[in-house]
Amino acid sequence: MRLAERMSRLGTETAFEVLVRAKALEAQGRDVVHLEIGEPDFDTPSNIIEAACRALHSGYTHYGPSAGLPELRQAIADDVSRSRGIKVNPNQVVVTPGGKPIMFFTIMTLSGPGDEVIYPNPGFPIFESVIKFVGAKAVPLRLSEEREFSFDIDELRSKVTPRTRMIIINSPHNPCGGMLSLEDLEATAEIAKEHDIMVLSDEIYIRLVYEGEFLSITRFPGMLEHTIILDGFSKSYAMTGWRLGYGVMPEELAAQVAKLMTNSNSCTAAFTQIAGIEALKGPQDESYKMAAAFKERRDIIVKGLNEIPGISCLMPKGAFYVFPNVKEVVKRGKFANAKALADYLLQEAGVAVLSGTAFGEYGEGYLRLSYANSIPNINKALQWIGEAVAKLG
Ligand SMILES: Cc1ncc(COP(=O)(O)O)c(C=O)c1O
Repeated sequence: MRLAERMSRLGTETAFEVLVRAKALEAQGRDVVHLEIGEPDFDTPSNIIEAACRALHSGYTHYGPSAGLPELRQAIADDVSRSRGIKVNPNQVVVTPGGKPIMFFTIMTLSGPGDEVIYPNPGFPIFESVIKFVGAKAVPLRLSEEREFSFDIDELRSKVTPRTRMIIINSPHNPCGGMLSLEDLEATAEIAKEHDIMVLSDEIYIRLVYEGEFLSITRFPGMLEHTIILDGFSKSYAMTGWRLGYGVMPEELAAQVAKLMTNSNSCTAAFTQIAGIEALKGPQDESYKMAAAFKERRDIIVKGLNEIPGISCLMPKGAFYVFPNVKEVVKRGKFANAKALADYLLQEAGVAVLSGTAFGEYGEGYLRLSYANSIPNINKALQWIGEAVAKLG
């Protein structure tokens, strides 16, 4: 089959590939602990499920407006205004099936051949994939362990050219769990305003902050006009399979993104949107309980990893991932790279993890482990990793 040329530029998410390999091992009777996939292991809170059922029974089974149901757009505008301390109106909100389409649609709307987009590396792999897919140049911005997985603002400045159309930030961060400081956010905002660049601010982990407070770049004057906030329900309310997310952006851009929705999905499923209103307006205790559980697991996994000789792991401030440095183990085991070590851990230890390079070239020497798993499973994984690493001598 002759595919369009652009398909050769489309990347993927390694987590799904590793999941398939881990499942294949399980089918052979092996016991595997899954730390590869980034999704809460909790069930969606029951009040949200009940709201969806009620919606289905009361006729929310039809097409709706491409940008989302007005009542959900209003609820999102209110929630985002409150959580970020800004003033958002519903016309700035576009509801999509998950937060991911906001990346796709806004990168596609704002950049193309000849343009440049700066993105975090290591970072969520879909950023680089989509930038390349639309024909723009993907410009990596290094996040380093020395900076607790944030970037050097002078390096960001040096990467900006007259062709830069967008800067992507993600805080709390997947895969490193780092958070951008107030100073870094402010400096990024100044650069964006000075050069008239849009910032795609992926804030999907807003509720999973364990140290300090969540800060949005939109808090700085003039930034609402220069920002697309990406957020959704997957991580905050354990709703990954529902496919419900949104973007908040200038109205002019929202109209274009809604047009892309009309051209692709028509609209987001109506009954899930009604459930989204319940998620935002209903009781929040389940969501807070999940965040507290993640914090407890974070402390256990970080301590356990640091006890394994050759592995050192920073304490992440948010999200549900750790990004341990495994350079010494890679060397000791004579592995070609971190990916070879990740393969060894799956085969030898029965623990599915990702190589840091699944998130870009600057992830070399690191692994990513998701701690969205039970404490018994995390303890089992730590023991098995420890044993497999000890075998390397
Ligand atoms: C940084 C980041 N952004 C966005 C998403 C997409 O989430 P969803 O499309 O499920 O809302 C994810 C999911 O893993 C993520 O880690």
